[in-house]
Order: sequence, then C-alpha cells, then structure tokens
Amino acid sequence: MSQNQDMSNPGGEQPLEDRVNNRSMRPNSSAFKDFMAASWAPVEDSGETRLASADYALERRSKLSARFPGERLVLPAGPLKVRSNDTDYRFRAHSGFAHMTGLGVDHEADAVLVMEPVEAGAGENGSGHVSTLYFRPMAGRDSSEFYSNSRSGEFWIGPRPTLESLSLMTGLPTAHMDLSLEDALTRNAGLVALGGLTVRLVRDVDQTVDAMIDTSRYNTGVDLEASDASDGALSEALSELRLVKDAWEIEQMRAAVAATANGFDDVVRSIPRAMNHKRGERVIEGAFFSRAREEGNDLGYDTIAASGNHATILHWIRNDGQVNAGELVLVDAGVEADSLYTADITRTVPVDGTFTEVQARIYQAVLDAADAAFDIVKPGITFRTIHETALAVLADRLHGWGLLPVSVEEAISPAGQQHRRWMPHGTSHHLGLDVHDCAQARQELYQDGIVEAGMVFTIEPGLYFKAEDLAVPAEYRGIGVRIEDDILVTADGAERLSADVPRTIAQVEAWMASTGA
Ligand code: GLY
Ligand code: MN
Ligand code: MN
Repeated sequence: MSQNQDMSNPGGEQPLEDRVNNRSMRPNSSAFKDFMAASWAPVEDSGETRLASADYALERRSKLSARFPGERLVLPAGPLKVRSNDTDYRFRAHSGFAHMTGLGVDHEADAVLVMEPVEAGAGENGSGHVSTLYFRPMAGRDSSEFYSNSRSGEFWIGPRPTLESLSLMTGLPTAHMDLSLEDALTRNAGLVALGGLTVRLVRDVDQTVDAMIDTSRYNTGVDLEASDASDGALSEALSELRLVKDAWEIEQMRAAVAATANGFDDVVRSIPRAMNHKRGERVIEGAFFSRAREEGNDLGYDTIAASGNHATILHWIRNDGQVNAGELVLVDAGVEADSLYTADITRTVPVDGTFTEVQARIYQAVLDAADAAFDIVKPGITFRTIHETALAVLADRLHGWGLLPVSVEEAISPAGQQHRRWMPHGTSHHLGLDVHDCAQARQELYQDGIVEAGMVFTIEPGLYFKAEDLAVPAEYRGIGVRIEDDILVTADGAERLSADVPRTIAQVEAWMASTGA
C-alpha cells in the first residue's frame, strides 16, 4: 500500500492525477533539496561537433523554403509516447523533423523546428527563411529537475544537450522552448488580408503544438478547415523532398542494409535453436533484434518471422509459432541506423536447409519476378511499371501451373486481376527514414512518378498460398514466399543494395549449410 492512501476512503478524495506520486519515496525536506543542489562538478563540455548531416539538412531546408516563401513553417519532433502508465517508448523523432534537422538518435523529445520567413535571399543559405530549433535544454545540477524529473532529469536519463551543444551539432540557432516557443509560433500570425502571417504546421505530431497554433488561428479568425489543407501541403512537400536521396542519405541506407545483412546471418544461425523451441519464430525475431540494437538504433519496423502457413499472413508479427523441418520460414526485417534510416529486406529459407520441389518452383517464380522488375529499373521509367513487370511474370507462372481461371491477358487486364489473389500487396515502396517513405507524396510523383537517380525503393514480389486456399492443389497450400531487396537507382540503371544477402536457391541452400542448420 502507498503511504498517502487512505484505505478508509477507497473512493478517494485525492485527485487521480496526483496519485502518480503515491509511490514516490523522494524526501521533501529543504535540507535534502539544499544538499542535492550543491557540490556538483561543472557540466563538462560534451565535445559535441557538427553532425555530418548538418550541411545536407541546410540544403534540404533551402528546398523547403523555396516552396513556401513568406510563410512560417513549424516542424515538431513529437513528444515521448506512453507505453504503459509512466513508462515511455524509447523516443524516435518524426521523420520530417529528422530530415530537416539532420538529427537522428541525437534527438530531443518535444523539440520544434521553426522556419521563419525573411526577405527573399536574406535567410540561411541564401534562402527566404531563418530556422531556429526550440527545445528544453539540460537543466542545471542546482535545479530540482536534475534529480526529480524522471523523463528529462540528468540523474534519471543521463546528460542531454545544452543550447550551445545542439546548436553546434546542427548548425542551427537554438532557443529554450519554455521561454519562447509559443511566441515564436504565434507572433504576427493571422489572416494575410489583415496583414497577418500564414503559419503551416506538420499536424498530429505534437498535440501541444497543434493546440497552440489552433488557438492562435481561432483567435485571429483564420479558418481551421482551410488551415488543415494548407498544413497538409507542408507534409506533402516534406514527403516529396525525400523521394530522391542525397549522398549522405545513400550512405546511411548502405549502413542500414549492411547491418541488416548481418542480422540475416544471425537469423539463419538461430534456426537450429528455433526448431527446438516451442515459439521458434520468437527465437528468430530475437536474433535479429539483438543485431538491430547492437549495430543500429532499433528495428525499422516489427520483424515478421513466419514459418509454414504463417508466411502467408502478410503482417505476421505475433511470431509465436513453431519452426518445423520441411517448412519455409519467411523473415522480413530491417535495421534502423542511428541516423534513423532503415533497410527493409525479406528472405524465405527452407527450415531444414533444402527446398522441396514445389517450394523451389514457387521460390523460383518469385525470384524471376524480382529479377525481371529489377532489370527494367533505370531513370526515366514509370514507378508503376516495376510492379506491372513483376506481376506479369507471376501471372504467367500461375497460368502455367494451371491455377488461373482465365488467360494471362485477361488476368493482367484491369477488369481481371485474378492473379492478385496470391499477391495482393504492391511490389515496391520508397524506403528511407520511414520504411514506407514519402507516403504523403502525390500520386503523380509516386505510383505515376518517373524514376530518378538517387531514389531508393524495395522490390518485393511474393506468392502466398494459404492452407485454407481451395483454389490451389493441396501441394501448394501453406507455402508463402517473398523476396525483398532494397534498390538504389543509379545514373543509368540500378544497384541492388541488399545483393549480399543470399537470394538464389543455390545461394540460400549454401547459406543454410554453412551454419550447420
Ligand atoms: N516490411 C514491410 C514491407 O515490406 O513493406
Ligand atoms: Mn517493404
Ligand atoms: Mn519488408
């Protein structure tokens, strides 16, 4: 029982919000407070240096600035998110914020990047904006926050940046958010017709920031619904500016893919133990996760470790099944680097090291679809033709196996699409800070967009024959195969970044044999 609770009054007169302190054992005496505030060595210079991403982030902000001259742009990092009661998830900044600041794990929860319009050409990098990073710097050791705030105090979570150190890292002017953020967001904001300034916000990232700006809009007569649309245009621009990666981002993608390749070696090595465990899929998931934390920041998304019929469930992340000899196990996993860029790779391997004849037949069809799609990638093609190319191969194979109820031509026509029963997902998505990157880009720049050098996306065809699928012969049932690679578009073609992770049947069988599975 907690010391402050009065069990004679279990309904309680103590407000619920105060009860969070009921388990606190922190002394309250002024003697304690005075002693805690004294005799600490000065905060050491953390030796922070300018991040390698800082110059790239400056270029990206210049491009964003050019899209919205004369307007204030507000990009929150987002707050800590509660997992359970007073326990938070590990913080991960919003991708738009990360892209425009260059901050990865060097994050700050609650931070906000504000790009303030100035005269054209008078801003940073010759742009029309000056940017300031608002955040809550590390509190002094003579403050109670130092030892009493479990979400931000140095005694609890370790040192955090000062205003000076974060400025040095990002090349951005910094300011204390508690002192100046609301003013920075709302100053002179209002109807343009009345001499006010338009403010655009990346919404739904930080409710506190949304509320400050919505209140200001309400008070100055700015239409809230129209603002929703203009805010949306900022998110759209942030997505579209990420469609082509710069040199630093490509380096990060290579690092994320390399760590993921190591993780897949760990996955294969874990299979013998997985076969002897009642939740073998968890053994595989855990093997990959260790690598993600050792070499990167985290997983880019929850690992899919799916054996047997589970491989036919597209987002199988429960991962609580057995891993049995004779089955294929599909593993879809990606390491998110410290920069927050993630890989997204899938391999499907035979648990006991050798494909059966029918497994090999299905696997080869998926591999041929992936290779056909990869072979057409070069600048100038339409993104959607990658999907169409992969699907044409799969439709042809399905027809050859006698599974399609119509001709290939009928199936691939818009009025048909029967082959999609066995591959209902897309073949490709952009990849970067988000696993499904650039998600707010317009259709004409995404599915209907033209492929350009510097784009990074997946090619991930699959075939999924569920155990309960009565439209296929029994030998196909319970087999799911996906092969997913990460592709960089080059000046005259494409590079398969994940080429080192075994792909062909011979490579996969040799890979399994090398680990004694
Ligand atoms: N892992 C999610 C995807 O492949 O899109
Ligand atoms: Mn993917
Ligand atoms: Mn994937």
